[in-house]
Amino acid sequence: MSNLLTSEQRRAFLRRGFSRRDFGRLAAFLTAGAALPFYNEAALAQGLSAMRNLPPDAIRINANENPLGPCAEALEAMRAVLPQGGRYLYNETFALADLVADIEGLKRENVMPFAGSSDPLHRVVLAYSSPEKSFVVAEPGYEAGGRAAKYIGAKVVSVPLRKDGSHDPQAMASADPNAGVIYVCNPNNPTGSVTRKEDVDYIVANKPKGAIVLLDEAYIHFSHTAVPGTPYITANEDVIILRTFSKLYGMAGLRAGYALGRPELLEPLRKYAAGALPVTGMVGAIASLKAKSVVPERKKLVAETRQDLFDWMDKKGLHYIPSGANMFMVDTGRPGEQVFEAMLKHKVVIGRTWPSRPTSVRVSIGTPAEMSKFKAAFEAVLSS
Ligand SMILES: Cc1ncc(COP(=O)(O)O)c(C=O)c1O
Repeated sequence: MSNLLTSEQRRAFLRRGFSRRDFGRLAAFLTAGAALPFYNEAALAQGLSAMRNLPPDAIRINANENPLGPCAEALEAMRAVLPQGGRYLYNETFALADLVADIEGLKRENVMPFAGSSDPLHRVVLAYSSPEKSFVVAEPGYEAGGRAAKYIGAKVVSVPLRKDGSHDPQAMASADPNAGVIYVCNPNNPTGSVTRKEDVDYIVANKPKGAIVLLDEAYIHFSHTAVPGTPYITANEDVIILRTFSKLYGMAGLRAGYALGRPELLEPLRKYAAGALPVTGMVGAIASLKAKSVVPERKKLVAETRQDLFDWMDKKGLHYIPSGANMFMVDTGRPGEQVFEAMLKHKVVIGRTWPSRPTSVRVSIGTPAEMSKFKAAFEAVLSS
């Protein structure tokens, strides 16, 4: 397996504090991405084996997906491109980078398209953390980066979220003087909580020299208050931003996303590149960005459904963390895994629990009809 690394890659890894013993894992990381255990939300979702036998009418609110799927414009663009699927259509990837640059007021070299955001997330871990450079992450937080870091032998430093669910800027910035990557997910998965602009500014300004702030904005389109980090890129800060079409845009199974950053910061990610990207994902992403009503309409729908759930939980006396995304965490007062299993019996698949909140579960926000079924099942489970 380690033969798959080029001699240049081996030398570069050795310089960064990896040892020859690590080569097998590093090669696996580079070649088997999708097959590795830390891959993405779907792979992390609880009870995957149980899910294989799910009835078709089960409610899936476990992986922060969008039940609406791609918008009509994206569907049409993807259908239209299918007959050309025998070609490597690189131009569509360049067209996505151009469009994103245009929308964000950046240069094309600041934008690197990918098939989703898991891939660049893992590449950032590989490029900027090592046995000598840690990965700093909030708890509860999205686990994929930390698992990838652990896999390659980098230390994972966990920093508790503040009471309101936001990142603790002082604690994140000073967590480790040898930090390689400080991961800030805004809004945060699994809580949906938002970290204010001035707090992200603080982390960017006060992080250890040489560390990268990895700003994961997978859920930013849902939020009314989270401020996108694009100005950090314009200001040439040590920041890489990740965005995905898997969430609000409903394209999780189609795969499109991108990284934003200074060209020198993005270049190491290209080194671990994998060639052509899925053309359906690329044209679907382009059509989604051009369809101007998609974000406001879907954001509004999710906000209304979320508010209805919060009102309901308030009435029931349930404790939850206020969320600005398409998920929330609610305290069940008993082991979260038990609640997950009990909900499964009602054909409702909810999300997992996190080590720091063992009695809480994450619930993704589906359609209003799905959430009515969730309420009925949740009520029955918690009163049993
Ligand atoms: C915070 C966060 N980042 C990244 C991802 C990766 O998603 P994808 O690879 O589908 O873009 C997810 C998936 O749920 C996520 O929650």
